[in-house]
Amino acid sequence: MKKQARIIGLGSYVPEQVLSNADLEKIVETSDEWIMSRTGMKERRLAARDEYTSDMGYKAVKKAMHNANISSESIDLILFVTITPDYIFPGTACLIQKKLKATNAAVLDIQAACTGYLHALSAAKAYIESGMYKTILMVSADKLSSIVDYSDRNTCVLFGDGASACVIASEGKGYAINKITLGADGDQSQLLILPAGGSKKPATQETVKEGEHYLQMAGKEVYKHAVRRMEMSVKHCLEVAGLNEEEISWLVPHQANIRIIESIAKRFKIPKEKVFLTIHKYGNTSASSVGIALEELFKENNVKPKEHIMLTAFGAGLTYGAALLTCEVD
Ligand code: ACO
Repeated sequence: MKKQARIIGLGSYVPEQVLSNADLEKIVETSDEWIMSRTGMKERRLAARDEYTSDMGYKAVKKAMHNANISSESIDLILFVTITPDYIFPGTACLIQKKLKATNAAVLDIQAACTGYLHALSAAKAYIESGMYKTILMVSADKLSSIVDYSDRNTCVLFGDGASACVIASEGKGYAINKITLGADGDQSQLLILPAGGSKKPATQETVKEGEHYLQMAGKEVYKHAVRRMEMSVKHCLEVAGLNEEEISWLVPHQANIRIIESIAKRFKIPKEKVFLTIHKYGNTSASSVGIALEELFKENNVKPKEHIMLTAFGAGLTYGAALLTCEVD
């Protein structure tokens, strides 16, 4: 019988420290009114100075493993999604393996910026359904505050820190990972970039002086691509699944801008109350944003058996995609 990959446990974590719009008003020339009306963000969270991406990921992992009721020994593979790893190498999945003493697990880091959650879901689905692995731990975490320039009002208001995790297996019940469609447009790779610190521009005093170790973004351009690409991805995913838009029970989008989210929802005629939002309290937490929102949706709302949940995201690269989950639990 064909194996079906499913999420059998979720967890998330956001740091305690809140950075509000009022706090940002004291740092750069901005206003609560501007930020709320242009982005839908009110607050975001900041990791402590000595709290790193792997620490946040680990906290989300512990909750996901508890909810899935699995032990460290049963994990076959750890997938870690991040654009702010603790180190360029070793990979952050290795650090999680160490913290968990998950000695039976292979490890792999995945980098697809804000779409990374969907890329990792697709990899997990393929591994599980091919029979190669039975139990996969997927983690996404980012300390975006470590690459944000807090003197640049164009970007510093948008991002927050956080983590999410899930356990994916073929056994048990949860949320079936039905269809995933992914895409990329490498021609647009300059639109959202961390210019220095890689092999092309190793960090020097000069790169630091020029602020090239900070994230840079052409916001308006990214915005246009985001709307178009997520629309395309959701449409494609529905086609592949053989469903029509009325059959989407919940939309869980990447939480980058409320106006982008509203455009997607309007395009597919999804009512406001079926679009799950965390953007007002956490801002854009990169790949974790879909995972954190998904966990809160399941916790706060009564998602019913057979309901379809559409995830969609886009990010630097540019990367984009959509995934369709189906609820199997009461
Ligand atoms: N406060 C006040 N004014 C601001 C701020 C701010 N925080 N930021 C920019 N402005 C100003 C600009 O300087 C500009 O002023 P000017 O007209 O005098 O030059 C004016 O506001 C308008 O700026 P726009 O860029 O046109 O504003 P826009 O309505 O496009 O909103 C935003 C900007 C919010 C960045 C929007 O373009 C956006 O959300 N883009 C998509 C970003 C995104 O989703 N990024 C995540 C990608 S995912 C990943 O991989 C990380």
